[in-house]
Amino acid sequence: MVSETSKQPRINLDRLLGDIEALGRFGATDRGGVNRPVYSDADLGARQWLEAAAIDAGLGFRSDAIGNCFLTLAGAQPNEPKVWTGSHIDTVPDGGRLDGAYGVLSGLECLRTLVEVGFVPARTIEVVAFADEEGAYGSFLGSRALADGLAADYLTGLAGRHGEPLADGLARIGSSIDAVVAQAPISADEVAAFVELHIEQGPVLEDAGLDIGVVTDIVEVAHGFVTFLGQADHAGTTPMALRRDATRAAGSFLTGLPTVPADHGSRTAVSTCGMIGVEPGAANIVVEEIRLSLDVRDRAGNVPALQGAVEELARRSADEHGLNHRLQWTSLTPGVALDGGMQQQVADAADRVGVSHHRMVSGAGHDAQVMARVVPTGMIFVPSKNGRSHSPVESTAPSDLETGANVLLETLIGTAT
Ligand code: GLV
Ligand code: MN
Ligand code: MN
Repeated sequence: MVSETSKQPRINLDRLLGDIEALGRFGATDRGGVNRPVYSDADLGARQWLEAAAIDAGLGFRSDAIGNCFLTLAGAQPNEPKVWTGSHIDTVPDGGRLDGAYGVLSGLECLRTLVEVGFVPARTIEVVAFADEEGAYGSFLGSRALADGLAADYLTGLAGRHGEPLADGLARIGSSIDAVVAQAPISADEVAAFVELHIEQGPVLEDAGLDIGVVTDIVEVAHGFVTFLGQADHAGTTPMALRRDATRAAGSFLTGLPTVPADHGSRTAVSTCGMIGVEPGAANIVVEEIRLSLDVRDRAGNVPALQGAVEELARRSADEHGLNHRLQWTSLTPGVALDGGMQQQVADAADRVGVSHHRMVSGAGHDAQVMARVVPTGMIFVPSKNGRSHSPVESTAPSDLETGANVLLETLIGTAT
């Protein structure tokens, strides 16, 4: 609930809900979700919409070589390091309308509110919509371009979920690998603080009846693939004993994968295979190759032990069935502790709005964990209904969306003045 007595500026909930509805139309699916991978037609449409909304609100707009978009409210001291907020507007396949978009649109609404009341911050405030947070090409591509810079050979090797080269995606936004490589990473001299507002995507806040999560840590995430290699044969004529069927090793592996976190990780460790590809891929051919995606997570420093256990499981599964396998880790995003000062800024902002808050760990990955490498970073969570996310049913009560956006507004005022 927003304090009735407050004289501070407050966001306009109807306008925020209208924006969530409008952006959700780009890539809307039959199941009520959104399918908006980076550089898709839906993503291009969403970027155009965001630019028009920024200009309409009296804000500046620019985008960079990887496709990050920036909405700018100029401060009174333009040479001072800026304050950044934001999140992402790409989605997982058939994801929800809030994951990422809520943080970007709340940032837009906060800046629009400040323009409306004539509030000029000392520091320039920018809302960043980071490209490819959901990893259609590589995890956190946009924030990594900003925090670390990205090398040409890494970018050249990246392909989308259907094998399309990154260069083709970049061409769709008028960019190229050379342009991304030429873009210098940011430094703490340019950006003083980053705060990301996001739905929790888990059940903690709702179960505890709390308004706001002040994120203390974000999990470490490793991604990769394991491929089991068999032999393609006729499904009708090859006797069962003579087959080298890649699905057999994959079956053993998938049965063992859920036991890895309990045996080798902390209480909150998790492991997931979310994509399965088979070759050649016909009902009447014994499977020659089966490729399984890997996502393992635990608190900072624990993930290498989980990776080792997954590697051992893959070896055992292949050996058991006399097959070969390849295992490749494509990324390890380190877990981070978020900045203590920014955590306090968020907690103080929640107090000023008059809502409850709770310090908590994020089990989801976020651009904030990449930005935290170079900039003091904080995160604000709002409750997710039934803890559901990465699904069309993802939802948050409008009053909670309003509270989160007002806590963001107060945090921005607190850090930019
Ligand atoms: C991002 O949504 C992630 O945690 O994978
Ligand atoms: Mn997500
Ligand atoms: Mn997200």
